[in-house]
Amino acid sequence: MSGRVGDEGLVVRKIREGTVIDHIPVGRALSVLRILGVSLHGRHRIAVLINVESRKIGRKDIVKIEGLEPRLEDLDKIALVAPTATVNIVKDYRVIAKRKVEPPREVVGILRCVNPTCITRQEREPVTPRFVRVSVKPLMYRCVYCGSILTEKDIVEQLAGQALD
Ligand code: CTP
Ligand code: ZN
Repeated sequence: MSGRVGDEGLVVRKIREGTVIDHIPVGRALSVLRILGVSLHGRHRIAVLINVESRKIGRKDIVKIEGLEPRLEDLDKIALVAPTATVNIVKDYRVIAKRKVEPPREVVGILRCVNPTCITRQEREPVTPRFVRVSVKPLMYRCVYCGSILTEKDIVEQLAGQALD
């Protein structure tokens, strides 16, 4: 059945062409898939590994998607739910690009302030939300307008809270 291979601890085939998102914090693999907007009934074959051994971060999740290259604007979102992730682009079975994601210093739009009375949440002429990063581990952002803190949990809920279909 399944032996131990490399740092994955499970035998999962290499992909020919597509994307491998590696070093995802445990439990965030499905959030990453949601952010990428891949349909589970579409043309992509998807492998999801949850809670496997990692040399670098103890345990991790991995997502492999055949036939998909992530859009540039998705990389910041991935960084927000999986700050430790590495995005590998695979062509012809080889990793041709490897990029460590980085939670952006500033986030404009994308996230919503947790304070219902914040100026960014007014019904009439709301201001575009703006946050600055205050910490990477744990990930935390501060609203530029009211000072409210967005925790990693708030961020994951906002970006990946909807159901997959
Ligand atoms: N991978 C894959 N299919 C390929 C090539 C690589 O599924 N054709 C996967 C590997 O299993 C690994 C990830 O993509 O999970 C990155 O591959 P590679 O750079 O070869 O591994 P490492 O050197 O261990 O990566 P890192 O240094 O980022 O930990
Ligand atoms: Zn605010």
